[in-house]
Formats: sequence, structure tokens, C-alpha cells
Amino acid sequence: MRKVIILLSLIILLVTNSCIKVQAPTAEPDLILRYADNQPEYYPTTQAAQYFASLVKERTNGRIEIEVFYNGVLGDEKSVFKQISFGGVDFSRFSLGTLSELFPTFSILQLPYLYRDSEHMWRVLDGEIGTKLLNDTSKPSVWGLCWLDAGARSFYSNIPITNTEDLKGKTIRVQESELMSRMIELFGATAVQMSYDDVYSALKLGIIDGAENNGPSYISKEHYQVAPFVFLDEHFRLPEIVMMSDVAKTKIEKIDPTFIDIIKECAQESSLYERQLWKEAEAKADKKMKEVGCIIIKPDTEELFKLKQTMSPIYEEYEGELKELINQILVQ
Ligand code: GCU
Repeated sequence: MRKVIILLSLIILLVTNSCIKVQAPTAEPDLILRYADNQPEYYPTTQAAQYFASLVKERTNGRIEIEVFYNGVLGDEKSVFKQISFGGVDFSRFSLGTLSELFPTFSILQLPYLYRDSEHMWRVLDGEIGTKLLNDTSKPSVWGLCWLDAGARSFYSNIPITNTEDLKGKTIRVQESELMSRMIELFGATAVQMSYDDVYSALKLGIIDGAENNGPSYISKEHYQVAPFVFLDEHFRLPEIVMMSDVAKTKIEKIDPTFIDIIKECAQESSLYERQLWKEAEAKADKKMKEVGCIIIKPDTEELFKLKQTMSPIYEEYEGELKELINQILVQ
């Protein structure tokens, strides 16, 4: 009888132990992956990256850990794109401006004065067109995971710009993008392609007269200190994209192929979270602009019409499938 009791106790102990082993979260992750963002810690996209990392950790039972490197510590967007292509960085958030030369169809999503408002842009991105472009596997070595909000971009300068005419002859910083340079040149200004981190000092030293960006970037980078004149024309609504390197995808699949779907699902949830944060960040930026005394000029309907007309040559350059895509976006 004693032997039977000991045997039963042993069986119970073994069964409980093995159950505990199955349920306990892995102490050490199987994979530690790196995520790059060039914005500061409390910026909406960085916060969304942290949220994404926490969701992935939770849903992979601690087997995948993602470390978020913000403030551009892994390099500017161009160099991070090179790194992500060979797997030196696993995930990154990019402004589409940086990617327009690499993926010509992305340039369609960022044409000047394309969307009527934020709702229009999100209808396109969340709809068939946005989903197709996100999943476009012709992208070399990278995978699109989700779109993020980056609001609308307007001009700001260290000398007043109050209308289309004032833009003439000015030197304006743009991202390293030919599409952006072309837009500036059509306004009769000179485009200077420069990395985001160099804009503050270039404005301060008068190397450029102005730049263009969204409110939260203008405030968080303190550009308002050296360029207090804001021309709120909202020429671009430039969405941002989170990408995963193909090398990271392969590593994740090796651990558990079902984890790829978890990654995608977590990215989508972090996108919704970011859109919420974005609205709050925009409201805070507007408030701050007023508090610090920025001189804000909003073009009226007539002025806006002139600005849009000046951009028509860009639209006319597109033909065939891309032209068709633009028309589809305009009617969404
Ligand atoms: C935005 C965007 C950055 C980008 C910057 C730029 O702030 O979020 O990722 O680098 O624009 O103008 O370069």
C-alpha cells in the first residue's frame, strides 16, 4: 500500500511539474529584436513602438522581445533602411518621404494636396489600396506591417511666408526625396535635401529659410525657436509605415511560424493606438504654438486653390496604372 501511495505521489509530482513547465513564461526570450525610430521617447510613433513590443512579448509568452531604440540612435532613416534590408535592424518606422524613390507607388500616397482631410487618407490606407501597398511583396527584403498617422505638413520659416508668392526665391529644407524637391521647385523656391536632425541648426544659421513638417515634429524638435512663422497650407499628408526585415521574419518563423500572424496583429493594434495618440499630440502642438507666440497664417480658399494649381504638373507626369491609382484615391 505504502509503495502504491509513493508511486501515486511521484506521478502527481511529475504531472504537476510538467504542467508548470508548459505554462510558465520563458525566462529568457528566444529572440531579441531591434526596432528603430528617429523620434523622441514620448512621441506618438515611439509610444506605439513600445506598445507593439509589449503586445508581442505578452502574446508570444515572452519568447520574442523587441527593444525600441528611439531618437535616431540607430541612424537616420536612410541608413536604417539600408540596415533593415540586410537584417541589421529588425523593425523600423519610416516616413514615406524617405521611401518614395525606393518604392515608386508609395510616392502616389504622398502627392501634394492629395487628400481632402485625415478621414480621406485613412479611408485609402485602411481600404483596398492601402492594404495592397502594405502587402506588396515586391519590396526588397522588407515587409510592411502597418500605417501610422503623421498628420499634415506645412511650411515654417525664419522670415515671413504669407502666400504662394512669398515662397519664391526661398531656400526650403525637404526630406531626401525627389518628389519633395520637385514640389519646392514648382513653388519657385530652392529645395535643400537634408537629414531631419540637421534642420534645427540649418534654420538657426540661416543656411535655409524654412522647412516643412507636421505640428508635433515642429514642436518636439524645437524648430519653432528658430522658425516662428508658420504657413499652415497642409500641402502633404505623409503617412508613415512600420516595416519588418525579411531576416527577422525568417528568424521568427523558425521559432514558431504562427508568430508572424501575432506580429502582424500586434502591429495593427499599435497603429490604432498611435492614431489616438496622434490626435492628442496635434492638439498639444497647436496649443504650444500659440503659447510660444508663433505667427500662424492659414491660406484662404483662393490662396489654397493657387497652391494646388501650382502642383498640377506633378500630377500630369503620372501615366498608366499610377495615374489610374491617383484617380481611384481622389474619389475615395
Ligand atoms: C517627420 C517624420 C520623421 C522624418 C521627418 C523629416 O517628423 O516623423 O520620421 O524624419 O518628418 O522631415 O525628415
